[in-house]
Amino acid sequence: MYRILKFFIGFCLVMLNNNIYAASSCKVTLHSDDQIRWDIPIIKVSKTCQTFTITLVHEGKLSKDVMGHNWLLTRTKDKNAVVKAMISAKSTGFVKDDGLIIAHTGLIGGGEQTSVSLDVNQLVEGQKYSYFCSYPEHSDLMQGTLILID
Ligand code: CO
Repeated sequence: MYRILKFFIGFCLVMLNNNIYAASSCKVTLHSDDQIRWDIPIIKVSKTCQTFTITLVHEGKLSKDVMGHNWLLTRTKDKNAVVKAMISAKSTGFVKDDGLIIAHTGLIGGGEQTSVSLDVNQLVEGQKYSYFCSYPEHSDLMQGTLILID
């Protein structure tokens, strides 16, 4: 009986934690390092969020000149065009306004972090969004999908 009770209490705590998470999850933190990678392949943004904050942490040691990371969001169909356009924007961290970027952070190196808040109202349900690092040669490995959920 004690075991069942213990299991039940544990279950309730898990459910409670899930609820707290759901209510406060209008944000996400991606971790990157000195490899061309980050740890989150899919970001789900709830419609109930007004803004959604993305934080990118670079846990490596290399400078942004050799292992720079940033986070850009575009519609998936615009990704390739944006990747190509950003290569020439080295002086501004491989980001320049081309009308297709929905949100972006600055470029960071090892030991740094950056974040951006996205206005959720500008996302359209059913639209496919992609995020990626626009540092040259990084966008195939440092990429992911962002979707709007209820
Ligand atoms: Co990168």
